Amino acid sequence: MGLHSINELREMVEEELLSYLPEEETLSKSVRDAMAYSLTAGGKRLRPVLLLASCEMCGGLLNEAMPFACALEYIHTYSLIHDDLPAMDDDDLRRGKPTNHKVFGEACAILAGDALLNRAYEIMLGAMKGFKSVPAKKKIAAASIIAEAAGNRGMIGGQIADIESESAEEQGLETLQFIHSHKTAALIRAAVMAGAKLGNTPSKSGTKQLEVFGEQLGLAFQICDDILDVAGDEKTLGKPIGSDEKNQKLTYPALLGLEEARAIYGEIHQKAMEALAPFGEKAQVLRGIAEEMYNRVK
Ligand code: IPE
Ligand code: IPE
Ligand code: MG
Ligand code: MG
Ligand code: MG
Repeated sequence: MGLHSINELREMVEEELLSYLPEEETLSKSVRDAMAYSLTAGGKRLRPVLLLASCEMCGGLLNEAMPFACALEYIHTYSLIHDDLPAMDDDDLRRGKPTNHKVFGEACAILAGDALLNRAYEIMLGAMKGFKSVPAKKKIAAASIIAEAAGNRGMIGGQIADIESESAEEQGLETLQFIHSHKTAALIRAAVMAGAKLGNTPSKSGTKQLEVFGEQLGLAFQICDDILDVAGDEKTLGKPIGSDEKNQKLTYPALLGLEEARAIYGEIHQKAMEALAPFGEKAQVLRGIAEEMYNRVK
């Protein structure tokens, strides 16, 4: 069956992403410019590509899934703008460019983040009346998966635990797992699950396997990010290394050392790959995405 490759999916996202930005308006031009700045600064587009790949694996149509994929990237981009603010991680470089607040100022960066988040919901609501081959019920379910993952029971819940861990007296593995599962795995899992929802949702056990895949991929992704924050290279990453140490973040390398962090990274990646076994050949693109991510750490 003709599945699109990772690169083809990524190109489609690049082509569509800006088309969902609102029209330019003179009086709020700076916020729109700030939104466009971060959306076009680059980025691996992992979440939208995952959503599209998962949808296609489940027999869904990419044009139906595209608004949800782009909405998810809008939410992710907002989370990065806010994550870099002085009140949060206080970083100056993102996607190889000065962070949003460094260019547009803090107030505009906060509002650009808010606007990206709001726009994401507009995009998904707009999609409810779009193409007719997917019933609105399924689209509502996909939007709900994304909304819950972005909220305080998901990404935001993880971000606050991450910030509070900086000054916590006790920093344990349980807290660390909570942080990773929420701040990062929530949106990645949502990408996989919302994609599946927009296709022909697999059987109960297939759905469970996909959820395990999304969760493990998300956990591995954040360990990877934490390892690269210690052992990566600013030029390749497009963001500063040493940010976690500067902020005394609770991370796998900080808690267990780099070697142990690498070992756990390998184990979790393995679990993600195993979860795809029941899907056989159909999961080749999802497998490729997981491999591409895994190979970021040498
Ligand atoms: C960075 O996400 C934030 C984390 C959850 C680690 P990405 O590494 O996907 O960032 P971009 O989108 O490629 O810039
Ligand atoms: C951020 O984790 C996760 C988000 C929800 C944005 P990090 O703070 O480690 O992400 P980077 O390293 O700044 O991209
Ligand atoms: Mg952070
Ligand atoms: Mg950060
Ligand atoms: Mg990081």
